[in-house]
Amino acid sequence: MAPSLARDLAAEQRAFLRRDRTRWADHLERVRAFLGDGLQSAARAPVLVLGAGSGLEIPWRLAPPTAVGWDADPWSRVRTLIRHGRFPPWVFQDLTGGLDQLAALAWRTARQPWSGRVRASGAATRRLAGLTGGLDPDPGPLRAWIQQNRPGAILAANVMGQFGVVAQRIVDRAFAGRHPWVPDPDLPDPLDEAIHAWTAKAVRAWIAALLESGAGLWLVHDRAVIFGTAPVTLGPMVPDWPAQLRSEDTLEVSDPLCGVDVLAELQGREPADHRRWLWPVAPGQTHVMEAMRIPPSSSHLSHNREV
Ligand SMILES: C[S@@+](CC[C@H](N)C(=O)[O-])C[C@H]1O[C@@H](n2cnc3c(N)ncnc32)[C@H](O)[C@@H]1O
Repeated sequence: MAPSLARDLAAEQRAFLRRDRTRWADHLERVRAFLGDGLQSAARAPVLVLGAGSGLEIPWRLAPPTAVGWDADPWSRVRTLIRHGRFPPWVFQDLTGGLDQLAALAWRTARQPWSGRVRASGAATRRLAGLTGGLDPDPGPLRAWIQQNRPGAILAANVMGQFGVVAQRIVDRAFAGRHPWVPDPDLPDPLDEAIHAWTAKAVRAWIAALLESGAGLWLVHDRAVIFGTAPVTLGPMVPDWPAQLRSEDTLEVSDPLCGVDVLAELQGREPADHRRWLWPVAPGQTHVMEAMRIPPSSSHLSHNREV
């Protein structure tokens, strides 16, 4: 992964940790309980923790010695050591497998090759939008790791909803803060649509790689982000997340998974547990969190009994 991307992730994580956490207690209790169960669900085969970060959401004391962290933030493992006194084996690669390619494309289209200066024309953003459509993020490193290590459980610790955020940062960096996006939300923005489509592909390919592993999956992710201060609650659980939101006001909601319906991607592997809760991340920003436990596939269980 390019050093600039790693630095961006580290900066993002620092900003995350610097936020006021006074209203995070309920979220942290729920997410730690869920992921704690996941850590203890596979005694012998390795447990893989994706988006492990600094371990704020992960009760590492419950992790078996086989547990491995995965996070591209270069400081994540050391922060885990400081927070938990654990120094697990770690993978620092990009989970989407496509960020380097996106970054190279964004740089090539945003900059003049001879001077490195940002091209100030709308043609550059349109070209980037067009070419992004040809990219197919493929989580090859994750697949290879899974094939080699055959984890018994994989925990996705609040990372899936970050793929699009990171992709946007990459584009912003290439344009050196000249904001290539169309500011009026009512007007079409081809670049925003292209990054949206790239993110949806990355999320789908990533879920497919997790399913291929056959391992027990413990997925936690931002299902939606609600902006503004309108009071909102969650109604009874229904598969369709927008139908669960209750508010007297019109809500401004964004979908970090860019239209991907996680349930529909599960290829018949039904969640044994599926819950949502609200996480007041900051004033004017509430996340709808989703947790899903997907039991191991039957072929994976019999393979693990044989070894
Ligand atoms: C919201 S934070 C999760 C916090 C973490 N679960 C914890 O307990 O501290 C998302 C994490 O995912 C990592 N991340 C985001 N995109 C990634 C990618 N494409 N590849 C690898 N790690 C990524 C970030 O570095 C960050 O640590």
